[in-house]
Amino acid sequence: MGRVALVTGGSRGIGAAISVALKEAGHTVAATYGGNDEAARKFTDETGIKTYKWSVADYDACAEGIRQVEADLGPVDILVNNAGITRDAPFHKMTPQQWKEVIDTNLTGVFNMTHNLWPGMRERKYGRIITISSVNGQKGQFAQANYSASKAGDIGFSRALAQEGARNNITVNVVAPGYIATDMVMAVPEKVREQIIAQIPVGRLGQPEEIARCVVFLASDDAGFITGSTISANGGQFFS
Ligand code: CAA
Repeated sequence: MGRVALVTGGSRGIGAAISVALKEAGHTVAATYGGNDEAARKFTDETGIKTYKWSVADYDACAEGIRQVEADLGPVDILVNNAGITRDAPFHKMTPQQWKEVIDTNLTGVFNMTHNLWPGMRERKYGRIITISSVNGQKGQFAQANYSASKAGDIGFSRALAQEGARNNITVNVVAPGYIATDMVMAVPEKVREQIIAQIPVGRLGQPEEIARCVVFLASDDAGFITGSTISANGGQFFS
């Protein structure tokens, strides 16, 4: 059944693949983005998927943006919390600002989006909330105390909320990607990236579409008995 889906950070990287895959699965998709107008325009031109600009770190902006999406497309039944940033630094060099930016976007952003959509999902007694965590939230990563904390927080958040949503047919799940071939991973110094790939048993980076397929499944009506779970898609790099 086609529903309205909202994908944060949905015009680039993993988010873009998720937006497209949800559309191909028959859903009406809205993709949000934080700053890159040109990429968003290009994405809409190529896919026909509407894009909306706001910061997920801003609670009131989320409320206003969601009102606009629902006025345009109808009630949102599927939320994909995908927007995320890195500010990598060894802890002794990490600034309070680098900590705050990552927590505000990757963890508080998930609260801001979900909290604004929760009342409508409860009323309609239906919802699919899927949050994109990371292998680095599961295993920790050198130079990512901020990012690993935020992504581990996303898992705890989802496990708690799964218990609250269950009685209203709202499922809350996580997909934890490993290293995927996106701008974020390509920004890692090449030498470091090669060392990372050497630790991935399948011997390559993942493709965004490999994450998108997990999301489409969790977003489907058929996945109603799965809640509070984490699907790891990391090429065997880490088992949890
Ligand atoms: N384990 C142990 N030591 C490590 C290490 C590791 N994984 N990585 C680096 N080090 C060491 C270095 O060898 C170096 O040691 P020495 O000082 O003895 O030579 C030290 O730590 C780093 O010092 P630098 O002064 O070079 O550090 P820097 O301030 O320049 O920072 C960095 C460099 C930010 C750590 C850079 O190496 C980096 O970006 N690393 C990759 C981090 C990473 O994997 N990020 C994931 C991004 S992708 C993502 O997040 C998506 C996802 O969800 C998977």
